[in-house]
Amino acid sequence: MLNNRTEFERVVYDEKFRPLITEKQVRERTAELGKQITEDYRGLHPILICVLNGGFIFMADLVRQIELDLEVDFIRISSYGDAMKSSGNVRLVKDVNAELKNRHVLLVEDIVDTGLSLQFLSEKMAEYDPASIKFVTLLWKKEKARVETHIDYVGFEIPDSFVVGYGLDHKQILRNLPAVYVMD
Ligand code: IMP
Repeated sequence: MLNNRTEFERVVYDEKFRPLITEKQVRERTAELGKQITEDYRGLHPILICVLNGGFIFMADLVRQIELDLEVDFIRISSYGDAMKSSGNVRLVKDVNAELKNRHVLLVEDIVDTGLSLQFLSEKMAEYDPASIKFVTLLWKKEKARVETHIDYVGFEIPDSFVVGYGLDHKQILRNLPAVYVMD
């Protein structure tokens, strides 16, 4: 199944996945976002909060493209379970540890789909009274939004299909694929 990384198609649980965004494209776009964030936050010492689990790979690559003193923290929410559709019911699984009052907070998401997670996170962060809150996501299924979403930095707008790899899972596997794949 995962024994040949050059394989064009992957079949997992009888589902076929084909490449959507290559490693090179992700790398180049992440570098651009890092540069933009570096310019926008100059002198501000931001705290980047990774939304687990899916955001861990993007976060790790993004912070290394930001040439600023910054801090990191992690928050975990749950909405999908093992399903391929958002349950619409977002809950907090692990909160941040850092004190966010008067901090410049940048939330790092893997993907924005219905926008319900983003809405939940935005309300949650507002409770901590930060100096600013912005959102960055690697992927955005723009046409799928169920609530109005404001995203400050978007890696790629993608069609409304289920994707895996580069942190994103299908039934908890495939997160370690180096590129983004889409289900056929
Ligand atoms: P939203 O609340 O519907 O915007 O969903 C956000 C979360 O759902 C993301 O952080 C992912 O964990 C998960 N998700 C949404 N779309 C996909 C997908 O295509 N593949 C894998 N996970 C997804």
